[in-house]
Amino acid sequence: MDLESCTPARTFREQPDIDPERFPLLADGQDRLPFADGFFESVVSNQVLNFILSRKRIDRVVGEFHRVLVPGGRLIATVMAEDNYFFTEYGVPPVPEEGVVQVRLRGRLEREDYYYRFRDAADVRDCFERQGFVLDDLGYFDYAFLDVSRARHYIVLARRPEAG
Ligand SMILES: C[S@@+](CC[C@H](N)C(=O)[O-])C[C@H]1O[C@@H](n2cnc3c(N)ncnc32)[C@H](O)[C@@H]1O
Repeated sequence: MDLESCTPARTFREQPDIDPERFPLLADGQDRLPFADGFFESVVSNQVLNFILSRKRIDRVVGEFHRVLVPGGRLIATVMAEDNYFFTEYGVPPVPEEGVVQVRLRGRLEREDYYYRFRDAADVRDCFERQGFVLDDLGYFDYAFLDVSRARHYIVLARRPEAG
């Protein structure tokens, strides 16, 4: 997917006050963030990593979050949990134990797509720790949505250590 050509990206570009140097959009597959090491004091990644359909690329992107954070900088990230309704109700059987899952949404959100499914909380923790993050908390949120009872997402609160 070319993110430049999708509607939210175009809407974003049409805003007169947005400087593309400060707020660049990345093309799909461009995993290196165009920012210097230690550029940010905080990084937020809300409901994005599940859309990257390879664990190798997810690891690279999380490594980039770590690189662009200043030592001591904070990260908040959310990812769909393994028992999110996307996987348990709409995952096309046989749903694999891990990895990329085909999802066929029904009803108002009718569409077919693919998502990366983390195995469990330990897998999510490992993904961030392996890139050098220290986790301060690994919690979750859940919400009732339309006719859905379990839309659980993990919330990762982590930091780049002062030395590292
Ligand atoms: C559920 S939305 C979350 C949007 C936003 N982070 C927020 O908090 O409102 C998922 C977002 O993931 C991003 N996304 C989808 N596919 C992606 C990909 N292959 N690489 C990077 N980002 C992707 C898109 O920007 C999309 O809007």
